[in-house]
Amino acid sequence: MKLDVLLSLITVVALNSPALADWLDIASLDSGNATRWPPPELTGGKSWADAFAKASALVANMTLEEKVNMTSGVPGRCVGNLGGVPRLGINSFCLEDGPAGPRPVHGVSQFPAGHATAATWDEELIYMRSYVMGKEFYDQGVHIALAPVTGGPLGRAPRMSRNWEGWYADPYATGVASYLSVKGLQDAGIAATAKHYIAYEQETFRNQFNRTEPYSIFPAGEQHSISSNLDDKTTHEIYLWSFAEAVRAGVAHIMCSYNEVNQTQACHNAYTQNHLLKRELGFQGSIMSDWGGQHDNVASALGGLDMAMPGSGYGGIFGQMWGENLVALVENGTVPEDRITDAATRVLTPWIWLGQDQTQLPEVVFNGASPFFVAPDGYRDVRDSNTPALIRRIGAEGATLLKNTGGLPLKNPQRIAVVGNDATDNAIGTNACGTAYRTCPSDNSNGTMSMGGGSGYVYAPYIITPVDALKARAIDTGAEISAITVDTNVNSSIQSLLPSADVTVVFVNSWAVEGFDRPNINLNPNHEELITAAVNSSSNVVVVMHIPGVVDVEKWIDNENVTAVIAAWYPGQESGNGLVDVLYGDVNPSGKLPFTWAKNYEDYYPNTIIADAVTSPQSNFTEGIFIDYRWFDSRNITPRYEFGFGLSYTTFSYSDLVLDESGAHSDEHAVQETNEPFAEADGNNSLYEVLFTVSATVTNTGKTMGSEVAQLFVSIPEDDQPPRVLRGFKKVKDIAAGASSTAFFEVRRKDLSVWDVVKQTWYIPEGEFTISVGPSSRTLPLSTTWSKTV
Ligand SMILES: *[C@@H]1O[C@H](CO)[C@@H](O)[C@H](O)[C@H]1NC(C)=O
Ligand SMILES: *[C@@H]1O[C@H](CO)[C@@H](O)[C@H](O)[C@H]1NC(C)=O
Ligand SMILES: *[C@@H]1O[C@H](CO)[C@@H](O)[C@H](O)[C@H]1NC(C)=O
Ligand SMILES: *[C@@H]1O[C@H](CO)[C@@H](O)[C@H](O)[C@H]1NC(C)=O
Ligand SMILES: *[C@@H]1O[C@H](CO)[C@@H](O)[C@H](O)[C@H]1NC(C)=O
Ligand SMILES: *[C@@H]1O[C@H](CO)[C@@H](O)[C@H](O)[C@H]1NC(C)=O
Ligand SMILES: *[C@@H]1O[C@H](CO)[C@@H](O)[C@H](O)[C@H]1NC(C)=O
Ligand SMILES: *[C@@H]1O[C@H](CO)[C@@H](O)[C@H](O)[C@H]1NC(C)=O
Ligand SMILES: *[C@@H]1O[C@H](CO)[C@@H](O)[C@H](O)[C@H]1NC(C)=O
Ligand SMILES: *[C@@H]1O[C@H](CO)[C@@H](O)[C@H](O)[C@H]1NC(C)=O
Ligand SMILES: *[C@@H]1O[C@H](CO)[C@@H](O)[C@H](O)[C@H]1NC(C)=O
Ligand SMILES: *[C@@H]1O[C@H](CO)[C@@H](O)[C@H](O)[C@H]1NC(C)=O
Repeated sequence: MKLDVLLSLITVVALNSPALADWLDIASLDSGNATRWPPPELTGGKSWADAFAKASALVANMTLEEKVNMTSGVPGRCVGNLGGVPRLGINSFCLEDGPAGPRPVHGVSQFPAGHATAATWDEELIYMRSYVMGKEFYDQGVHIALAPVTGGPLGRAPRMSRNWEGWYADPYATGVASYLSVKGLQDAGIAATAKHYIAYEQETFRNQFNRTEPYSIFPAGEQHSISSNLDDKTTHEIYLWSFAEAVRAGVAHIMCSYNEVNQTQACHNAYTQNHLLKRELGFQGSIMSDWGGQHDNVASALGGLDMAMPGSGYGGIFGQMWGENLVALVENGTVPEDRITDAATRVLTPWIWLGQDQTQLPEVVFNGASPFFVAPDGYRDVRDSNTPALIRRIGAEGATLLKNTGGLPLKNPQRIAVVGNDATDNAIGTNACGTAYRTCPSDNSNGTMSMGGGSGYVYAPYIITPVDALKARAIDTGAEISAITVDTNVNSSIQSLLPSADVTVVFVNSWAVEGFDRPNINLNPNHEELITAAVNSSSNVVVVMHIPGVVDVEKWIDNENVTAVIAAWYPGQESGNGLVDVLYGDVNPSGKLPFTWAKNYEDYYPNTIIADAVTSPQSNFTEGIFIDYRWFDSRNITPRYEFGFGLSYTTFSYSDLVLDESGAHSDEHAVQETNEPFAEADGNNSLYEVLFTVSATVTNTGKTMGSEVAQLFVSIPEDDQPPRVLRGFKKVKDIAAGASSTAFFEVRRKDLSVWDVVKQTWYIPEGEFTISVGPSSRTLPLSTTWSKTV
């Protein structure tokens, strides 16, 4: 079937699907009932059997108090501290944020945020960032990194203020990034924590506590966390997918999220934890609570939680969870001791597997445990001299060129004007706004946005601002440069500076911080006005945006004086250097969007951030599997920039699509195997076998060397599927002008499968699949078909 025919068919079916109208009977699943959803037997799985045996023997020798000490957070120097068992030589474990580097710790690197890294679509860079970051965690004495974000959030809600910490608004690509990030961290010798499990897609009402949240309406304890209500198909095909990849990478820990799932707290949810994660995905490690995500000692224990964080730590602001309370609950028969034995074994197995029982990690010298992040009291610099180059490279490779009518690359400008406070330093100090919340004075010039706020922030050892890097280049090239670095009352400065400049680079941003969803998708106050003023005085305006996701660009994007636009994301400490590499063409941009950029906020599905002032707010995921591009494609809505879009200084053509079934081979990537049911299983772990390979030739048809992100989409012949889903991407690097290179993809059985909610299994539908390859989700010049041979 041709793609457009398939598209129209699917659109009609999807819009009228009764499954979307009357779609949830939440009570029927009984998701808080641990009798119905008991924990499976622990085995160690494919590769942890030896570690499991050792851990079991160790735990068998522990008293109840000791087992509880292995599962409950206590006060200490780190963001999280596990008590340990001194009698058996097990020291306290140090747990520390976060996904862009160790926090809150000095003497570390501020890596690019997840989004900036995602936009590179470069598997090597995604892995290297995690590996190098993992070394820093290790050298600071951190046993368990609270990273990576693994599809919680996945990016369902454009205003969700933590999307920038994670990856792509797509389960497949987020699955690849999660797998590589877990591997990178753990190859460096520390335990990774895939987070936040599951369906954690808004900050508003995330906690029942109102001490730390801005939206408090009801007294602490009365407020329920937001409930994410989602159907089984959506759970499997969208939100569980990337966690399956983290499990396959051998992730040590998984953090349950703040929200409720189907009206049961995620950290108490026997169905999502015992059944989906531990039974279906075969997860052998521990589930730890997010800080404040555990609301009940019994429900969490029975519901599958293995590690209470921060337990009694963190100044007690999250309550006194587990610890001696759990001892009492076991002693009076409320919680079976087996459950605690299982939990302690789940904590210790990956610790042994990673070899942390054999090596003494460096002593922790920082103090990152204060809830309000007062200055750390110890300092150790663990940075490697090669790391700045890696950070710079990711910044340059992730910078996404959205518009270019000739403004870039810069052609040896002699007079350069720079506009915007985002181009320069924070007026009161690099890290002066703190890591957790916005603590800058309201009249402060906050400077360039290299990172978002919250637990995903990292102290920057320095920031190379855009002005720093542009100035250095101006000096090298004998140019003049002048910067306007405040955002208000600058009309007259703009009117006098810009007309004499060869190029004006305007810097704008949008701030996102954990705990506060963005109120809208606007640029920060006064930033649209800066662009408006600049284009009135200059016919060559290059706009650079440091942003956590989509922003509204409609008022100025088509202005003829805007000659280039770059989304530079939150690029970390080497911000200016990576950007200047791209502006001057030393690096040809190849970043592409990790989400769909709509023209209007209303073009996204409705009700993504629920702010109803009720004690039990409900977020119904009524769009089901139709998130991001799946929505725009099935509804035929034209976005401003589609998922996977990004320009280059050169051009590419695609040819020679070859689908090769002789390339079939068994799964080579599973560190641990899942138990996901598969209708066509033949006794092997067949769901992840490679069924065929696809290759395509990418030719550089322009005049400059460049890299291209080739994308593979699959149209699955089932009524309820979107027109196409991403099932492969490959960054084809450094193709010389006129030269060609091959993009190679492996398509696994799971990549062609859908979830059968009745039979509770993955299956490959019958019919003709269309396999398309091209530069973005909406430009797919090559396609072929494939059908299952029955
Ligand atoms: C929990 O599930 C078990 C087994 O399905 C059932 O017998 C029991 O009634 C359920 N408990 C509640 C409180 O619904
Ligand atoms: C159990 O503890 C005793 C000391 O209390 C020790 O001698 C023995 O080696 C321990 N066994 C294991 C498996 O750790
Ligand atoms: C629990 O952990 C704390 C902190 O490391 C330690 O002081 C205490 O001895 C431990 N308790 C037991 C029973 O091992
Ligand atoms: C919760 O929020 C309300 C309203 O902002 C406030 O009056 C109350 O003191 C808060 N409770 C706690 C325990 O922080
Ligand atoms: C939510 O409840 C629905 C209806 O019982 C069920 O089909 C679905 O699997 C549940 N999802 C999760 C993640 O618990
Ligand atoms: C068991 O102990 C806990 C904690 O002390 C207490 O809250 C609970 O009521 C007790 N339950 C029974 C059945 O004794
Ligand atoms: C700087 O950040 C603070 C919050 O930390 C905010 O109130 C203020 O408006 C920001 N300043 C500018 C000029 O945007
Ligand atoms: C320019 O002046 C107008 C009118 O006073 C004002 O609204 C706007 O914010 C100013 N723009 C800048 C960038 O200062
Ligand atoms: C545009 O520029 C002209 C000439 O410099 C100036 O008079 C006018 O106020 C500017 N308009 C805006 C909206 O900035
Ligand atoms: C473009 O810039 C020139 C000044 O260089 C100005 O005269 C013109 O009005 C601007 N055009 C638009 C559409 O803003
Ligand atoms: C969510 O879905 C349930 C079940 O269909 C419905 O009863 C409820 O009103 C919905 N809630 C909201 C806020 O839309
Ligand atoms: C399943 O595994 C067996 C033994 O490793 C192997 O011989 C066989 O080819 C595998 N089947 C498939 C379909 O890969």
